Amino acid sequence: MKILMVCLGNICRSPLAEGILRDKVKKANLSWQVDSAGTSNYHIGEPPHQLSQKVAKLNGIDISYQQGRQFRKEDILAFDRIYVMDTDNYNEVKRMSRALWDENKVTLLLNELYPLENREVPDPWYGTEEGYHRVFQLISDACDVIIEKYSVLNIG
Ligand code: 4NP
Repeated sequence: MKILMVCLGNICRSPLAEGILRDKVKKANLSWQVDSAGTSNYHIGEPPHQLSQKVAKLNGIDISYQQGRQFRKEDILAFDRIYVMDTDNYNEVKRMSRALWDENKVTLLLNELYPLENREVPDPWYGTEEGYHRVFQLISDACDVIIEKYSVLNIG
C-alpha cells in the first residue's frame, strides 16, 4: 500500500497524518509507504508547524524531519490511496490531476471514520494548541481504521 495524505499547506494537518500513519504502520509491522503533500506551494521545503511538531512529540512521534512539498498530478498514479483533509483539498486535487484524476483513489480522510458523512479535518492554522490536539485525535482514529481495513487485505 502506498498512501498519500494531502492538505492545503502540507505544514499542519497532512504532516501529522503522515507521521501518525507511519507510526501505526511500523507498529503493525506493515511495509506500506506513507507520504504527504499540500495543494498549495506556500510552504515548500519547510518543516511542519511548531505546534504540529509539539503535539506529535507529546504523543511520541517525531515529524521534525519532514519537508513540505506540493501535490503533483503524477501522485495519482504513484499512490494507491490519497486522503484529503477537507473538501477544498478534494476539489484542488481533482483540478490539479487533470486527465490522471481517479475518483476511486481519493477520499476525505474522515470518511474512513464516519463513512459517507464527508466530515472535514478542521484547519488548525489560525487557532490555538488545543486545535492541534483535536486534529491529532481525529487523524489518529481515522488511521486506526485504515490500518484495520487494509492490513486484512494483506497488501504490501
Ligand atoms: P494545513 O494548514 O493545510 O493543515 O497545512 C494551513 C497551513 C498554511 C496555510 C493555510 C492552512 N496558509 O495559508 O499558509
